[in-house]
Amino acid sequence: MIKEDIRLALENIKFSSAPYSNFNVSAVLTAKNGKKYTGVNIESASFTPTICAERVAIFKAVSEGVKEFSRIVVVGGLDGVVEELTSPCGVCRQVMMDYCDPKTFEIVIAVDEDNYEVYTLEELLPKGFGPKDLEG
Ligand code: THU
Repeated sequence: MIKEDIRLALENIKFSSAPYSNFNVSAVLTAKNGKKYTGVNIESASFTPTICAERVAIFKAVSEGVKEFSRIVVVGGLDGVVEELTSPCGVCRQVMMDYCDPKTFEIVIAVDEDNYEVYTLEELLPKGFGPKDLEG
């Protein structure tokens, strides 16, 4: 349920490790098999290795052999205070494109259980490049 995922994402934002930007993000990914994968952003002193919450969740799942997803919930805010909607960055949208059906995969950006918006991946990444483009 979306509201439960939002609650879990808000609960887990404390695990975000973002000492450089102080912008904490937390995500909850739902696989088509029903399993949930959580992710937070993890930053590096060398900056470029920094990874977003969304990709942590997706890569955790893929690393366990799970590659089909139906939804991701994202919350974020400075110093872990979630007051506005946080939308996935372009790199994460591309990675979603690699594993998700752009027409049906739902991206839920949330402030709390009563304040959230739902988009399809296609809405946030129109005319995206994906695995299908590499098929003959
Ligand atoms: N970040 C995410 O984790 N997900 C998003 O959707 C937006 C940005 C992270 C990356 C970086 O650690 C911090 O937020 C500031 O950009």
